[in-house]
Amino acid sequence: MITTPYDPPPSSRSPSPSIGEKHSGKGVNRGVPAVLNCNRIKRRRFLKHSVAALGAGLAGCLGWTFWIEPFWVEIVERPLPLRNLPDHWVGKTVVQISDLHVCNLLDLDFMRRSLASIAELDPELVVITGDFMTCERDEWIDTTARVMESLRPGRAGILAVPGNHDYGAAWDRPEVAECLGQRLGDLGIRLLRNQVVNVNDLQIIGLDDLWSGCLDAAKVWPRVDPNRASLVLCHNPDAADLPIWSGYQGWILAGHTHGGQCKPPFLPPPLLPVRNRRYTSGAFDLYDGRWLYINRALGYLRQVRFNVRPEITRFILVRDATPAKPSRRPLG
Ligand SMILES: [Fe+2]
Repeated sequence: MITTPYDPPPSSRSPSPSIGEKHSGKGVNRGVPAVLNCNRIKRRRFLKHSVAALGAGLAGCLGWTFWIEPFWVEIVERPLPLRNLPDHWVGKTVVQISDLHVCNLLDLDFMRRSLASIAELDPELVVITGDFMTCERDEWIDTTARVMESLRPGRAGILAVPGNHDYGAAWDRPEVAECLGQRLGDLGIRLLRNQVVNVNDLQIIGLDDLWSGCLDAAKVWPRVDPNRASLVLCHNPDAADLPIWSGYQGWILAGHTHGGQCKPPFLPPPLLPVRNRRYTSGAFDLYDGRWLYINRALGYLRQVRFNVRPEITRFILVRDATPAKPSRRPLG
């Protein structure tokens, strides 16, 4: 073999192509410098991995949104301060659930398990703030009643108010809510429709649904003793903005919004069925002696939730020693 001073010895020659060499490997362009080919291979690999990671992330996110979070119930514990609370209610638990939406779209086993789990919270009273079912007419009342059998009553019972979906598809069938109320009554669940009940010296004021047109607060105030501890149940939080409260001071427990069911981090939920977009979920000071609490719902209209877990609220009753706001007018 004839070598020149510029030729490296055969043993020291690199197997990989160097600058200026033509590469003959598969998938690499002939006639293109090897460094450029190498960069293209790296870029292609990077893109392939990026697309794979993006696909996996998207699949995980969809799985989470459709199959995990709708069933990942959060027990939210918080104090509930009430004025004039009798000693025997101090420290007792009131559990709120809302918006079960029993229908063919709901996983009924999930709902039964969730309702059964409430017994572990040792409730004195269980309250339900509407939307037991999603129905056209009365076709889901029997199933709803069977599902509700899984809920063990608190020591002081179960009280509820209807939501718009308990009035049929267009919220215009009072006979459906009437029939639901009777079936629930057979199970010991009392459906309050503009009614007040006294539960061991705690007044529960149950307002009927706003969208059905059946809310009539004027019916309840004459029956409310302003010197007794009281708590309002009202499905739709928009009712809090109506001029119907006649000086009531205290808490209003509501549902209806489902917290929007999907919410981008740090941003408000894009879909909210309320006029007042402030009413998403959680506690709100209404600045006139009233407070509003909106439960994020236990069920769903569609099996999808993101960043808005289903909720069971466990309130611990405490005595509110702050004086009433001076603007308070007598009820009635
Ligand atoms: Fe609802």
